[in-house]
Amino acid sequence: MHRRIIVPSALAASLLLAIPASAADFVPGAPGIGDSYYPTSGNGGYDVSHYDLRLKYQPATDLLEGTATIVATTKQNLSRFNLDIGLAVSEVRVNGRLAKFATSGAHELEVTPATPLEKNKAVSIVVRYAGKPSEVKIDGWTAWARTPDGGVAAQEPDSAAWWFPSNDHPLDKATFDVSVSVPDGTQAISNGVLQSQSSRLGWTRFNWRSNKPQATYLATLAVGKFDITTDRTANGLPVINAYSKDLGDNAGAARASVERTTEVAEWLESVFGPYPFNSLGGYVPNVTSGFALETQTRPFYSPRQFANGANASVVVHELAHQWYGDSVSVRDWKDIWVNEGFARYSQWLWSEKEGEGTAQELADYVYATRSADDPFWTVKPGDPGAENQFHIAVYDRGALALQALRNEIGDEDFFAILKGWPQRFAYGNARVADFVRYAEQVSGKPLAGLFDTWLYEPSKPAASTAAPAAS
Ligand code: ARG
Ligand code: ZN
Repeated sequence: MHRRIIVPSALAASLLLAIPASAADFVPGAPGIGDSYYPTSGNGGYDVSHYDLRLKYQPATDLLEGTATIVATTKQNLSRFNLDIGLAVSEVRVNGRLAKFATSGAHELEVTPATPLEKNKAVSIVVRYAGKPSEVKIDGWTAWARTPDGGVAAQEPDSAAWWFPSNDHPLDKATFDVSVSVPDGTQAISNGVLQSQSSRLGWTRFNWRSNKPQATYLATLAVGKFDITTDRTANGLPVINAYSKDLGDNAGAARASVERTTEVAEWLESVFGPYPFNSLGGYVPNVTSGFALETQTRPFYSPRQFANGANASVVVHELAHQWYGDSVSVRDWKDIWVNEGFARYSQWLWSEKEGEGTAQELADYVYATRSADDPFWTVKPGDPGAENQFHIAVYDRGALALQALRNEIGDEDFFAILKGWPQRFAYGNARVADFVRYAEQVSGKPLAGLFDTWLYEPSKPAASTAAPAAS
């Protein structure tokens, strides 16, 4: 006689788990992390916790040679996985064993370990690579700026693939050790704290450590002849600034501006709360580009930022990003407003406290000077598109949105939000929608309509004016 045996489902599940995984259970990690603007940025299947980069760079030839040790955790069973790198790779080891690798597209490295990787396991990946970063073209351009005495990696949304292999997307942050050997008399600048430096046989090695989660595009490397200044904040944090010795007419204004880093950061703490990292500073290399970038702990400033004299405002902008952009980062590149709208608004607040025009006056000025038929109003700061990711509208209209919020909810709630947000999502990632929800929670007001108008309408909204002062 047959009896049906009913196996309780929990037991069935445990029996299934006991069956060894077959090869079919291991699949390749995705070649992108799922970004809406940049489908091949980042990769699927693993999460990096630390990058240890050991590099050597020769300015005379632009040759960069490196060994990257990447500490990661698998998030699925992996038959292979990708890294993002544009330089030529000569060897890959996974958990100490040689792995097969192939390049696909301009910056995808496909790594096939000797044995498949199980989900939720620590994995170490060692990549040896070399090349001339200025000659690496990804989508037709190079993010590496070669200078007369060195080179600089500082770009957004991507710069990592020109100098190290990574999971290149803000969703996967990690800590960094960057050790760079350069010819004596030349310096290497990176993020965080300079741990040590030593010379041997004509080469000097600089060891930098950035010990808080850091997005890959916020990792920076600059090699060249720099004057380096070191100081401490009142709280004891190291302040390290670096100025190319080759800034020409911009040298004085650059120093006069970047030297205000400590003062600006202390003022920003009064607005945004405690500074999120273990060191601060800024560096000004002798590049010809014109922008600045919030590279973590130590922003990059093009000398052209100081071509018209001292410019504290750009220092305010890049330091504001340390809270808005670096500690709290975009989830997806389409969320760029959570970085740029706030960095721009902080410049308006700085102007307000300096007595040079209130935020409302600056908002009124932007509003008045952009006529209704200005294409400025067709860019949606809440989803500008990859081609308009850094359009002036993301900044200026993005800041107008914050002035409209301030007028709607009043200063008390507004400034509570500016201080609360960097705590709420510290060292993490957030979307535009997360900010809208957070502002609604703090203020207790429905705000979807206001944000729709200022972040998503492709036309000029009706002006937002200051609430009448309480009598
Ligand atoms: N986040 C940077 C800033 O606002 C923008 C960098 C834009 N990139 C560029 N190549 N212009 O400071
Ligand atoms: Zn910015």
